[in-house]
Amino acid sequence: MNKIDTLEFEVNMLLEAILFRYGYDFRHYARASLQRRVLNRVQLSDLDSVSDMIPKIMHEPNFFNLFLKDMSITVTEMFRDPFVFKQIRDSVFTQLKTYSRVNIWHAGCATGEEVYSMAIMLKEEGLLKRTQIYATDFNNHSLEVAAKGIYPAAKMKLFTENYLKSGGKESFADYYQAKYECAKLAESLKEHITFANHNLIKDQVFAQMHLVMCRNVLIYFDQNLQNRVLDLFKQSLIHRGFLILGDKESLDFSSVNNAFDKYQYPERIYRRSAYV
Ligand SMILES: C[S@@+](CC[C@H](N)C(=O)[O-])C[C@H]1O[C@@H](n2cnc3c(N)ncnc32)[C@H](O)[C@@H]1O
Repeated sequence: MNKIDTLEFEVNMLLEAILFRYGYDFRHYARASLQRRVLNRVQLSDLDSVSDMIPKIMHEPNFFNLFLKDMSITVTEMFRDPFVFKQIRDSVFTQLKTYSRVNIWHAGCATGEEVYSMAIMLKEEGLLKRTQIYATDFNNHSLEVAAKGIYPAAKMKLFTENYLKSGGKESFADYYQAKYECAKLAESLKEHITFANHNLIKDQVFAQMHLVMCRNVLIYFDQNLQNRVLDLFKQSLIHRGFLILGDKESLDFSSVNNAFDKYQYPERIYRRSAYV
């Protein structure tokens, strides 16, 4: 066996051990970046090989939590890619306004910035009161941060710029209170948000959605797992519901491609097709 094969074999064994011990299935995460992160953890933990990680993973839940953190890239920001939020405000909301109740699911919400951005836009467009937002992730630590809605004050400059580019209509400073190094978002934004643990690999659909936003999550999955997750979104969406992906993600080559129309393509906004 050459060195590459050995590494692949050891990583496979590690992933089987994790599935057996903790029920988390990472076997269908995109391999190159998964391997990079595993090797990084080997180095940080002063281990000699991936094989050495296996007994630690099996016997030390805290070590597994570190691995879980490694696998959960939480990079995010408020109004990330403002042109996407602008398009949601200008064209998706026009459609959502025709419903008396609206359900929105943020899958892979990380530390919540994307969710609060949505809540702010819904409020400004008079939709928040009739909307229930479900914000899910499989990383409990991120969910705790999200539920608090407290972010470094230093980030508010970028968030304000993004808000304005996304068509923000008020003064962004009215949505948070800055204290020392922190900025706490307004409690009123949280009233319509439910944060919950949901693992896209194994959990099921839990409600009918008018809009599913899952940005910058599918890039970490291989095509098989992407298809599984996209099928979940398809099941969850109402007739003519919206699906929004990240700018490096698309439905091309996926198993659900013909169930969706491209609604606003540069923004990766899709809509459940009328015919499938
Ligand atoms: C880069 S963040 C994306 C955050 C936000 N959607 C955005 O675009 O700014 C990716 C998130 O996906 C979550 N994630 C990865 N695998 C997941 C899974 N199997 N189930 C649920 N969430 C997952 C990670 O924990 C992380 O919070």
